[in-house]
Amino acid sequence: MSLARSLNIDDLRRAAMRRLPAPMFHYIDGGSDDETTLRHNRAAFDDWRLLPECLVDVSRIDTGTALLGCRLALPFFLAPTGMSRLFHHDKELGVARAAEKAGTLYSLSTLGTTSLEEVAATIASPKMFQLYILKDRGLTLEFVERCKAARYDALCLTVDMAVAGNRERDHRTGMVMPPRFGPGSLFSFASHPGWALRLLTHPEFRLANVAHRVDALGGGAMGLIDYVNSQFDRSVTWADVEWLRARWDGKLVIKGILSPADAARARDCGADAAMISNHGGRQLDHAPAPVEMLRSIRDRVGAALELIIDGGIRRGTDIVKALALGADACSIGRAYLYGLAAGGQAGVERAIALLQGELVRTMALMGCASIADIGERHLLPAPSER
Ligand code: FNR
Repeated sequence: MSLARSLNIDDLRRAAMRRLPAPMFHYIDGGSDDETTLRHNRAAFDDWRLLPECLVDVSRIDTGTALLGCRLALPFFLAPTGMSRLFHHDKELGVARAAEKAGTLYSLSTLGTTSLEEVAATIASPKMFQLYILKDRGLTLEFVERCKAARYDALCLTVDMAVAGNRERDHRTGMVMPPRFGPGSLFSFASHPGWALRLLTHPEFRLANVAHRVDALGGGAMGLIDYVNSQFDRSVTWADVEWLRARWDGKLVIKGILSPADAARARDCGADAAMISNHGGRQLDHAPAPVEMLRSIRDRVGAALELIIDGGIRRGTDIVKALALGADACSIGRAYLYGLAAGGQAGVERAIALLQGELVRTMALMGCASIADIGERHLLPAPSER
């Protein structure tokens, strides 16, 4: 199916499934354990109906908003996701360029296959770097200094990754990084010759932001992924957030907050924004859906924190519901990764354009000419919840 014939994110997902060998597709698509949270992230949007207001002048719709001190053309942006090269050789640079064209923010993961400097040299638009507080605090600080030098607009500290979630699809499909031709993956690679050929011609599967550390340790002695896994620090606490806050004077986002109490702690530590997120259902299974925590978090922190929400956003109506419940912005993960897998940068552009088109249409049908017009009065609990 051509990108133009993909009419929604689900079509792009099906295109990605056809394009990618099974290990890569399921690495994007899957969640942890029984994938209860993964499914719930979508289903929770159905708890709300949209209540339109009629006879409002919607001849001009403005989707622009302010977030993290930046002016964005859209109230949604691209969440940090690792290892984009697995899905397309346009990798993070294609995603970043698509974000720039759309006038929105790009977030680069620590586990990206492109360095933070390369992204900064490629786009002039708002960018955020996602990091973890690693056991090696020297490396953590090195990220901070590199982000300062490369003029990143924000740092995003992910805090829901004390250990990696149990992603059984990855075990079943034999997902490894860097990808290797092996008995488990042979059939899947052979049935996707286009992707497999690119594996040979564009073999840059390095975790570009941390590779120098592994090289310094003697390269092959430890695989990159093993190195990163060995660096996740289970002892990190709010005191470490304060430590980071004291060393970064730009905008600081804490990603992976789900409870009102943690949102209040983030605010007290001097964070500028909380990303209400369960890592797209990839970490703690049975965690609540971000969208169902939004109202209570907003009630708890008031206007003191910007609230970003991600998880399960696949439609413009999802974005409008999130904004109506109190989010300042949404971020999308799989929605753009399916596009990347389906068609590289053009596929990401298609994903953004689809969501943008749906958002504008929904706003017009709701009687909302601007993002500020969207409010709680536009929501009605779905009947089963009454
Ligand atoms: C992620 N996510 C993620 N988050 C993060 O902080 N650092 C990372 O490296 C990654 N990597 C990653 C890879 C893949 C393949 C996915 C799907 C997700 C989580 C991501 O930022 C975001 O929270 C979720 O993707 C949001 O849910 P949806 O939009 O995918 O449903």
